[in-house]
Amino acid sequence: MSGHVRSRTALCTALTLGLAAAGLTAEAHGQFGLTATPVAAETAHQQQTLRERADQLGFRMGTAVSEQHLNEQAYHDTAAAEFNSVTHENSLKWESIQPEQGEYSFDRADTVVEFAEANDQQIHGHTLVWHSQLPSWVEDGGFGPEELLDVMDDHISTTVGRYEGRIDTWDVANEIIDDDANWRNSVFHEQWGEDFVAEALHMAHAADPAASLFINDYNIEGINAKSDVYYDLAADLLDQGAPLDGIGLQSHLIAGQVPNDMRQNIERFTDLGLEVMLTELDVRVPTPADETDLQQQAEDYREVFEICLDVPGCSGVTVWGVTDAYSWVPGNFEGEGAALPIDEDYDPKPAYWAIHEALGENGNNDPIDRPTQEPTASP
Ligand code: XIL
Repeated sequence: MSGHVRSRTALCTALTLGLAAAGLTAEAHGQFGLTATPVAAETAHQQQTLRERADQLGFRMGTAVSEQHLNEQAYHDTAAAEFNSVTHENSLKWESIQPEQGEYSFDRADTVVEFAEANDQQIHGHTLVWHSQLPSWVEDGGFGPEELLDVMDDHISTTVGRYEGRIDTWDVANEIIDDDANWRNSVFHEQWGEDFVAEALHMAHAADPAASLFINDYNIEGINAKSDVYYDLAADLLDQGAPLDGIGLQSHLIAGQVPNDMRQNIERFTDLGLEVMLTELDVRVPTPADETDLQQQAEDYREVFEICLDVPGCSGVTVWGVTDAYSWVPGNFEGEGAALPIDEDYDPKPAYWAIHEALGENGNNDPIDRPTQEPTASP
């Protein structure tokens, strides 16, 4: 396997600097022209980061970031070099932002926003209305419908309003359908039925009319009972005129189990006129992972990226973490892990190179024309 992600980046920088130095010297001496350029440039080109390749394609290449790791140099530099988009892993969730009613604390979320801005990255806001990581004052507050609507409005307008013009896209509602494809039981659903989703979308839209608004869930990557519910819900929301712009397919996958109808599923949502993003991709394998597992994982990453790159309206993929060292998988799926493209030592895994190739289309580094989405009418 090739070298360390960071040293590769450092190597790339060194090559670029070397090239600049060669150009300057040649110019200063007025003799060599830039004869050193092609070789150096080509070498530097092969050392592109995922971010550089994604930038050329106009593709969103994201990662989840936890502010507590940002003072670790390798974490910080990898997050900045390899990704053009970030999602707060936890610090924008309700329990982090408003742990007690009316007591907002934005410090941790600000850290991630400021990191993204310093590195010229897009931000995906995760998440506004979710049954999980929801403080008990909301869940057990005994609010009636109108009170709960006020609580939602305060939280959404304060949070989205704070980052108006700075957070590009929002998961407005997360995981609202359960594993049996029924509406998930939550305080929001209890008081409002499914209408809380449209209400939340309108509140977010009012707070930042330019932000793109998403609904987001897991196990909706392929065509199944749960994604069918989302399809009908999305069509219904659009028919009602709710400001819904996209759907996020979380994509917490198991190696060897990329749904074979993932492309068709994405296409049916883009056919509704929605943007699709893969918002939390990881591909878990049994641990300790062996070479066969990591090869299978690489093929899965390749397939998923190729599908999204190929479908007009599928605008990006976010991987759920910078490094295996801090991935949520081992803590949540017993005996599984090693789910990200970059390992715990910040070394690239086969999956990293598979993504690298997928972003380069046939190993060709030239920019490609990404098909843009034709506007379509809702059904
Ligand atoms: C996870 C985080 O990665 C963990 O650190 C946290 O303990 C629990 O939440 N779906 C989501 C994400 O929408 O917010 C979850 O993130 C992973 C599953």
